[in-house]
Amino acid sequence: MYTSQMIKDGVTSSKMFYFRRAILTVFFTLLLHEANLLENGLARTPPMGWMSWGYYMCGIKCEGNESKCLNEQLIMSVADSFYRDGYQEAGYEYIIVDDCWSERARDEHGKLVADRKRFPRGMKFLGDYIHARGLKFGMYTNIADVTCMRYPGSKQYLSLDAHTFAEWGVDYLKVDGCFVSEDFLNVGYIMLGQYLNMTKRPMVYSCSWPYYIEFIHKKQPDYQVISKYCNMWRNFHDVQTSWEALAGIVQHYRRGYRDMAPHHGPGQWNDPDMLIFGTGVLTRSQSRIQLAVYAMLSAPILLSCDMNKITQYEKTLLQNLDLIAVAQDPLGIMARPYMFNGVIVWIKPHLPKKGDAYPSFSFALVNLDIEDSHVNLTPGLYGLNSTDGYTVLDVFSGHYLRNLTTKDTLSLLVPGQDVIMYTMYPL
Ligand SMILES: *[C@@H]1O[C@H](CO)[C@@H](O)[C@H](O)[C@H]1NC(C)=O
Ligand SMILES: *[C@@H]1O[C@H](CO)[C@@H](O)[C@H](O)[C@H]1NC(C)=O
Ligand SMILES: *[C@@H]1O[C@H](CO)[C@@H](O)[C@H](O)[C@H]1NC(C)=O
Ligand SMILES: *[C@@H]1O[C@H](CO)[C@@H](O)[C@H](O)[C@H]1NC(C)=O
Repeated sequence: MYTSQMIKDGVTSSKMFYFRRAILTVFFTLLLHEANLLENGLARTPPMGWMSWGYYMCGIKCEGNESKCLNEQLIMSVADSFYRDGYQEAGYEYIIVDDCWSERARDEHGKLVADRKRFPRGMKFLGDYIHARGLKFGMYTNIADVTCMRYPGSKQYLSLDAHTFAEWGVDYLKVDGCFVSEDFLNVGYIMLGQYLNMTKRPMVYSCSWPYYIEFIHKKQPDYQVISKYCNMWRNFHDVQTSWEALAGIVQHYRRGYRDMAPHHGPGQWNDPDMLIFGTGVLTRSQSRIQLAVYAMLSAPILLSCDMNKITQYEKTLLQNLDLIAVAQDPLGIMARPYMFNGVIVWIKPHLPKKGDAYPSFSFALVNLDIEDSHVNLTPGLYGLNSTDGYTVLDVFSGHYLRNLTTKDTLSLLVPGQDVIMYTMYPL
């Protein structure tokens, strides 16, 4: 077993660094052949909740800018909204404080300190506040010397920071990878994961590892390895608050299906980043697209907005239990995309099953173009083979439309920038 002393020495003494890193690499390579997937029992379905970055970003300029301020009132107001407005019952659970939460310097013991102005009562207080409402608390760090916004990072403090987060009652840790070499990405995430485990506090481990491998170091991420150490991982750019950014995300996960889908399931999730609901940039049909695609992917569903700015329409979508059932299906399968006349048709088997043989299926027909498009679809060609047929639920209207045999063809008009989502239950 390596010790924290070994790692500390390895980092501080340049003489021994490469030698010891080589030993660590061997050690972790051995581990890698023993372990299969990260077995911390967490994130059996994709996490749902709220995260500060997308909308509040580095919201430190609070004077005269209260509406964009990342502080304890904001986090408490999200917890209150989840508790009061039906989100918690629908499954929204994690409230995650992203970058820019800390002081610029650690304390005299090297411990991270919450920003004294914006989080005057500290992070343990905030964790307690969130837990008192039956919700879960998430935080953020980076495995370089500094975070992406140049607050203190965890590289030389992996063990201490893991214990600090545990002490504060953290249930979910987002770990970024700005300013990290390819070599250290490939060991740092593993090391921090081990330290989190040693705290004995269950924490969902969200890694940005593959994002930095693919987009900064221009290599193919090794999802087989990443899924052994992380509960979820970012593998595309930060979402921007625009329709174009959303369309780019949808296309990325369509193209990446073959690489990602085999390493996606209970406890291990590809993460396309936050929803942009509540920001006023999406039309109703565009917001249906984002939610439908995330549900079909079995992706984490994390809001990032002022909860008071979510429209009644968006709230109804976010709390549509037929859709959440698809998003949170225990099988956790990533829907497979097909192209039909310019429309992406995502197909996902899920529970309930009839007997052992016949799962239910959801179909989402996503049209990213402006123009309407016509699609003829024969579900029987895509795995729906129960001879007793299926009943078809329109997920957005909540209406059962018709019954279907394995031979029937549906002739559908998918409006521009819109989605049709059906769930088909075996009869
Ligand atoms: C308000 O805060 C946001 C988020 O940090 C920042 O982008 C913006 O520049 C700030 N506006 C002013 C007027 O300080
Ligand atoms: C630590 O790892 C072991 C072995 O994989 C696992 O059984 C345990 O649940 C983990 N504990 C925590 C707190 O993550
Ligand atoms: C139905 O399809 C599933 C795969 O989707 C397959 O495992 C099963 O054997 C098929 N059953 C019949 C009766 O064709
Ligand atoms: C679909 O089939 C079920 C079970 O046979 C039946 O109860 C229901 O009325 C049918 N629905 C339609 C729209 O035909």
